Amino acid sequence: MKINSIRKGLVGEITVPGDKSISHRSIIISSLSTGNSIIENLLESEDVERTIEAFKNMGVNIIKKNNKYYVEGVGLKGLEKPKKPIDCGNSGTTARLLSGVLVGQKFDSIIVGDESLSMRPMDRIILPLSKMGAKIKGRMNKHLPICISPSQDKLKSINYELPVASAQVKSAILLATLYATGKTSIIENKVTRDHTERMLEYFGCNVYRTNNVIYVDSNSVPVGKKIYVPGDISSASYFIVAATIIEGSNLTIRNVGINPTRSGIITVLRKMGADIKIVNKRELNNEPVGDIVVKHAPLKGIVVDEQIIGTLIDEIPILAVAASLSEGTTVIKDAEELKYKESNRLETIYSELKKMGANIKMMGNDLIIEGVKELNAGKFDSYNDHRMAMALSIAALKGNGQSEILGYKSVNISFPSFYKTLYSLC
Ligand code: S3P
Repeated sequence: MKINSIRKGLVGEITVPGDKSISHRSIIISSLSTGNSIIENLLESEDVERTIEAFKNMGVNIIKKNNKYYVEGVGLKGLEKPKKPIDCGNSGTTARLLSGVLVGQKFDSIIVGDESLSMRPMDRIILPLSKMGAKIKGRMNKHLPICISPSQDKLKSINYELPVASAQVKSAILLATLYATGKTSIIENKVTRDHTERMLEYFGCNVYRTNNVIYVDSNSVPVGKKIYVPGDISSASYFIVAATIIEGSNLTIRNVGINPTRSGIITVLRKMGADIKIVNKRELNNEPVGDIVVKHAPLKGIVVDEQIIGTLIDEIPILAVAASLSEGTTVIKDAEELKYKESNRLETIYSELKKMGANIKMMGNDLIIEGVKELNAGKFDSYNDHRMAMALSIAALKGNGQSEILGYKSVNISFPSFYKTLYSLC
């Protein structure tokens, strides 16, 4: 993809596609419900397609009519043995959340993925699910393919302190608990997205939280509902940063999920000096939603503390772009989890932004970025990582000429209309 630098602000109104995390969960939880669900504004992307295919292959009737998805829930015990291994492609959320469901089934299953997903850590779910009595094995006990066989007895609930801040691990345990006896408690020392808790609760399950402990009762049975998936704040973040760094911008992004466990990017950008307003706040199926109004503003470097990292984990590539164009130094602390994403983002952010002329250093798991006025144009590699492709494309708008982004088709993982939306504004 070739991208020219831009001198004119981004002005207008856009929407972004449905939230990826909420889309996955809406397919999973409505499939396991008794009764039917209707899902509107579901994200149509390669990752979510993997989750839809997985449940269709286990006998769930999911059809699209008039832009809505109709899911005929089969109940917790109604899934059928899939005829072939479940291919999760590039989707970590599909692989990890599905593992939590499959350990409770009365049939064997195999989960596979593409080259990148097959390198990502799965021991983080194998360990707690095994503690619950699941029969789950991975290659070298930590990678896909994963083989799951039915456990003789019912699964047991656990009390588990998350060793890594991961919503996917938390969600796998919550879903497995629906097939267990007793009550599970999960201690979360760093905040991560709480969409599974919110959606289970919305579907009538007994989930609650006190301070940093989440409880779920195994007697919970989800019941079909109507869902409207809010716009994805991660997808919105590329345009929030673009409007902030490009002079003359005044952009409204309608209908975006502003769940506080996801909106760390807004908190941090505001601290850096961004002009971001949230209007028309409302709630849709237990998720807060609003319209985001962004105007250009000069940014200043800040320290991004490790406690907030979980609430903006997917936005660090675009935050690093914003930091590269800020006055002063930004420190992004303890971003180790970035190593385990669709690419090793700690390295890919460092190498590609350095090529762009950013003053960036990596110290252990910290990124230290000193802002510059303008970035270099050139050829940059996304390493087939969707979030890198989008972040680099926005950075290229501030380059000193035409840039080329390699592996740009990866945007299909989460935001297939990204370039169309960008083009409509430029
Ligand atoms: C996700 C959780 C995060 C995030 C991913 C989606 C989810 O991963 O990076 O894009 O939907 O639960 P981790 O749980 O591995 O941090």
